[in-house]
Amino acid sequence: EQIKKGHYDHFMQKEIHEQPHSLTTTMRGRLKDHGVLLGGLKEHMKTIRHSRRIVLIGCGTSYNAALAVRPFLEELSSIPVTMELASDLLDRQGPIYREDTAVFVSQSGETADTLLALDYALENGAMCVGITNTVGSTLARKTHCGVHVNAGCEIGVASTKAYTSQIVAMAMMALAIGDDRISTKARRESIIYGLSDLPNKVREVLKLDSEMKALAESLIDAQSLLVFGRGYNYATALEGALKVKEVALMHSEGMLAGEMKHGPLALVDETLPIIVIATHDACFSKQQSVIQQLHARKGRLIVMCSKGASSSVCPSEFCRAIEVPQVIDCLQPVVNIIPLQLLAYHLTVLRGFDVDQPRNLAKSVTTQ
Ligand code: G6P
Repeated sequence: EQIKKGHYDHFMQKEIHEQPHSLTTTMRGRLKDHGVLLGGLKEHMKTIRHSRRIVLIGCGTSYNAALAVRPFLEELSSIPVTMELASDLLDRQGPIYREDTAVFVSQSGETADTLLALDYALENGAMCVGITNTVGSTLARKTHCGVHVNAGCEIGVASTKAYTSQIVAMAMMALAIGDDRISTKARRESIIYGLSDLPNKVREVLKLDSEMKALAESLIDAQSLLVFGRGYNYATALEGALKVKEVALMHSEGMLAGEMKHGPLALVDETLPIIVIATHDACFSKQQSVIQQLHARKGRLIVMCSKGASSSVCPSEFCRAIEVPQVIDCLQPVVNIIPLQLLAYHLTVLRGFDVDQPRNLAKSVTTQ
């Protein structure tokens, strides 16, 4: 086991640091100058493009990866995209139609709720697409077509490298679906360029490791942690908070910043740490106003911003900044989650909990 961990203390730590490599393998042989090559979708692409709706379905981190991709899948496909947590779709027996494309996202390809939702969508005649990291898994076998994530085997119960590779696999799927539209050609080409440079940017953001350890030291006794995001980075807020609660066993909530005034603002005081994700994109000015409002209520602020922006984004010297390299807006979630993965990791070690086998959790939940 020690050999497999190399010079790392834990699998989660190794898998976080492996991401420049795992992202490269996810993209290997699939990126072309003017498009992407996804053999697994080719035969069914016409049906997918003609679907009335795309429904993204998963649990836990896989759901969050799908949520991160939703905005630009909508943008590139011009097809309405809705989100379903697998268990909730089953509880409601929500409507799934023959004209739908249902995309199932699962690292293991064996999560019971996701597989039951797949059976349900197949019964209802939807086109079913699988996004999985496990070749030969039940999900891979039962779906009509799909994209293998190729992140390599993930051992830590808390998913890290599979999350970023799932986003990239679905980003390539979005590019492939939108491939026939002339109006978005330039946009697609910039995303392809962004993808090819992503492993470098991830390598760069991993250098924040010791900074995140220092941040973890300052948060070690906190009772709770809030993470605010919106737009492309709403998913980053949910996933960052999920990592902290899963492994560091600290209460943590990811929230849509647009909902702040509708409840969460009541929690704000000098003690509760709040991470606000405010990297540069179309939502930036709205996030600036969120920061101002939290500052006015004496919130304990930690701001994630684009490199070089901390002096203009931080409202006071007491506000801590996490500066990350900027990439094209729709891929920014891949970069932004990494400091939060590192934070969750260091918080867990400092608080003395089991990193790779968190209390009460399983890598793959194969029962309902
Ligand atoms: C479990 C794991 C999570 C994972 C979720 C979905 O809860 O602890 O890390 O995100 O299952 O798993 P899947 O294999 O379907 O992605």
